[in-house]
Amino acid sequence: MKTFYATTPIYYVNDLPHIGHIYTTVVTDVVTRFRRLIGEKTRFLTGTDEHGQNIEKAAAAQGVAPLALADRVVERYRELYRTFEIQNDDFIRTTEPRHRRGVEALIARIAAAGDFYTAKHEGWYCSSCEAFYTEKELDAEKLCPVHARPTTWESEENVFFRLSKYAAPLLEHYANHPEFVRPESRLAEVVAFVKGGLNDLSVSRSKVQWGIPFPGHPGHVVYVWLDALANYITALGFGSPDDRYYREFWDHAEARRVHFIGKDILRFHAVYWPAFLMSARLPPPTTVWTHGWWLRDAKKVSKSVGNVVRPDQLVADFGPDAFRYFLMREMSFGQDASFSDEAFLVRYNADLANDLGNTVSRVAALCRQSFGGTPRELCTDNEIMQAFGEAEADWRAAMTECQFHRALDAVWKLLTSVNGYVVAKEPWKIRKQEGADSARLHRVLSASAEGVRVAAVMLSPFIPSTSRKVFETFALDPKDPVPADLAWGRLPVSTPMPEAPALFPRADAAVYLSGKEGSMTDSATPPAAPPVPADDRIAIEDFQKVRLRTAKVVVAERVPKSNKLMRLEVDLGDERRQIVAGIAAQYAPEQLVGRNVVVVANLRPAKLMGVESNGMVLAAAVGEAGAPVLLDVPADVPPGSKVK
Ligand code: MSP
Repeated sequence: MKTFYATTPIYYVNDLPHIGHIYTTVVTDVVTRFRRLIGEKTRFLTGTDEHGQNIEKAAAAQGVAPLALADRVVERYRELYRTFEIQNDDFIRTTEPRHRRGVEALIARIAAAGDFYTAKHEGWYCSSCEAFYTEKELDAEKLCPVHARPTTWESEENVFFRLSKYAAPLLEHYANHPEFVRPESRLAEVVAFVKGGLNDLSVSRSKVQWGIPFPGHPGHVVYVWLDALANYITALGFGSPDDRYYREFWDHAEARRVHFIGKDILRFHAVYWPAFLMSARLPPPTTVWTHGWWLRDAKKVSKSVGNVVRPDQLVADFGPDAFRYFLMREMSFGQDASFSDEAFLVRYNADLANDLGNTVSRVAALCRQSFGGTPRELCTDNEIMQAFGEAEADWRAAMTECQFHRALDAVWKLLTSVNGYVVAKEPWKIRKQEGADSARLHRVLSASAEGVRVAAVMLSPFIPSTSRKVFETFALDPKDPVPADLAWGRLPVSTPMPEAPALFPRADAAVYLSGKEGSMTDSATPPAAPPVPADDRIAIEDFQKVRLRTAKVVVAERVPKSNKLMRLEVDLGDERRQIVAGIAAQYAPEQLVGRNVVVVANLRPAKLMGVESNGMVLAAAVGEAGAPVLLDVPADVPPGSKVK
């Protein structure tokens, strides 16, 4: 069966997530949701890159162990993914034993091919890139071309990988697989780079301690990029006894293996990674999709420049969907785009509050006022159905090509058609002249409402929570749509419709910008504060804010399509509530029912895989992978007891 495996880069844990990281993750989420929506079998991987000199240094600067730093940053990523409804199937950390096993297996295969040798390594090194540059890649001042920071001359005895041997096979692969690097212009860059000649690559480090020991070379750790790139297969179980996912999603004739990355890490993905895989006789990725940079004040947004954009305030004020939409609409995939608060507000008001929000509320209000619910028949042959046919074809083609702004344009065109149709048909006049029973009125409003529904289906990969609200407004299940929902004519007939609040209330941009100046983004000049203060002790009052209670599990069932999530109903003495817990890989439902647990009772609700969770069950995170082990509460402690 054809499968679709999509990955983000794994993120360094010496920085907190910012717009650049969120962008790649949202892109991958949008693509995976789209592929599922058109009926494909998908798997979505993301994770963190936790080894190497930069992490070692950042942890030392904060007075913590590298793994402790990683744990904290990983938690921020997980929180962010919950906020943005990222539906990743797995999250790999390079400090996990399964990853180390896979890296060792990959290295064993490369060694068996005779592609390693030991030699002295000298060159210009950028510690931010963790990469060496040749003289010709640097300017007279020897500044790193990515970070514009001084490189240093380094010299050590290293293990080398025979990258030069793969120049010809790589060029042949590019020629036979023009889809290997997209957009096309980026492939040309890669070809030019390889044609310029490939030096062998040093793949071990003796000056760095924090890494995977290089097998057979005591005192050396694996070069962080060889370690990191391997994540794409180690997470699938490569090198582990259970390699089902590896066989299904990577090493399979009909498996599509797609990496989404930023242009700064193209060389690693399009040259080194396929060369390692060729040497190990494993299939290369199908496509490396490369996006541009988010800029602010014409500079790449990054911690080192000190102009980071973190979306916290925007999300608090406008919701995660507005930010997802902005990212996908404002950037033409492949090119750079600029972030500004003003640009965000223009998109918010014009596209979301006006075009989308008004169309939905107008059509819904007309249905509610006319029939108290949805129309009594389905209109199957009219201009909106035709407009949908065209929009759907354009949307599908654009989505397949990662032209997200064009896919959104196609949906907006459909919304404009619906609006134009409503204005031209004047249903309020039909109602006045012919009454609410008029067949013509039912037809006009059913075409309009169905037009809005299919638009919401096509928007669901981008703004999932908004689409669910639209479905609810039109008396449908508020869930992520399935392939059949992409067909015309699924609106329920004669069904009461609930009152619904505006999807995107209009923002007064002038007031917002003057009142919030500086708070939507970090200041442009001062460098970002260290991610986590060295002293992170809290006052007793802080702890008292967390309401911990004992509870008894009454119902436990796995969340469909999730390996990790379990839906629990717990008894808190005076109430019963639903909590979703990431414990399904460790516990079976029957081990949970009747068990006493500790829960955080005053946590804001969140949705996990579309299921609402009202609290959190406490568990110890055991081992490097943080496997959850539930805290035990003696059976005679009544549910609802305070834990302090
Ligand atoms: N750890 C490596 C990737 C290893 S993948 C085997 C890494 N991590 S990173 O955290 O620095 O960057 C991760 C991704 O974020 C990259 O794709 C990078 O392009 C992206 N972005 C970081 N800043 C960015 C912008 N300002 N704009 C868009 N994306 C950029 O590299």
